Amino acid sequence: MMKHLLKMSDLDKEEIIDILNLADQLKYNQKHGIPHHLLEGKTLGMIFQKASTRTRVSFEAGMYQLGGLALFLSSRDLQMGRGEPVQDTARVLSRYLNGIMIRTFEQKEVEDLAGYGTIPIINGLTDYAHPCQVLADLMTIREYKGAFDGLKLCYIGDGNNMANSLIVGALTVGMKVSVACPEGYHPAEDVLEFAKKYGNKFELSDNVLEMAANADVLETDVWASMGQEQEAKERRRAFKGFQINDEVLAAARPGAMVMHCLPAHREEEITAKVLEAHAGEIFDEAENRLHAQKAVMVRLMGPEDVI
Ligand code: CP
Ligand code: NVA
Repeated sequence: MMKHLLKMSDLDKEEIIDILNLADQLKYNQKHGIPHHLLEGKTLGMIFQKASTRTRVSFEAGMYQLGGLALFLSSRDLQMGRGEPVQDTARVLSRYLNGIMIRTFEQKEVEDLAGYGTIPIINGLTDYAHPCQVLADLMTIREYKGAFDGLKLCYIGDGNNMANSLIVGALTVGMKVSVACPEGYHPAEDVLEFAKKYGNKFELSDNVLEMAANADVLETDVWASMGQEQEAKERRRAFKGFQINDEVLAAARPGAMVMHCLPAHREEEITAKVLEAHAGEIFDEAENRLHAQKAVMVRLMGPEDVI
């Protein structure tokens, strides 16, 4: 049974499908005004070392809708920001809270929180992973396409946290995955090792059109992530052409979905035209953060008999 959500490889296919099924149910309940106070009396601490719009608001609103309380904890205001070790923070917060969502730089910090604390830890983005986003992405793909088997997802751009989590998540649920990245910006080594097990269901190259050929889902993310602002200029050069545009869409299967975790940089990784033409699925994807994370919180902190 899932104890934390630290990275996508923490979850097997059955666990992902279970979260998505519960997320669909919670979305239905929310839309139809059916109360679902599954986390009444529970408190989630949300530690942020980086900016956020979607993650912060969807966790906070989600916890409220589940009958619980979410506390926003900026690392600037916590003693952690003044150097209190994560080992101590984890043990203290475990005495007050029922779960912690953390957005930070190093994956190790999230793993340490889980190691020293006694409550569930949810990774709300690190430099290495963004599992909450990928669960919402998979939920959205299933809503639009009905199933995963046989579908091809093509990710174009930086081999960053989104790429790492998407590769693992999409392969785990049965999709084929192709990745177009420039040399020097590949996904993490352990993710490429993981993908090797899937043989020709995984491809990686610097040829965008070849990778996008016959894709059912095209996804991209910013060229410079949070914390890489200094590299933005150099990255703009390195990523030129690693963009979802009309030409790339034409190479994909007719009716292909376009996805972006947002925030987007128009005319960098995606053209404004493609983003607006696919705003339906991109903003459904953003909405589904709420429902997917509610499902994760119920599984981690809620009663065991919720089906
Ligand atoms: N996609 C995403 O995680 O957005 P925020 O940075 O706004 O939370
Ligand atoms: N790769 C981006 C994702 C933002 C949601 C970043 O880490 O900034």
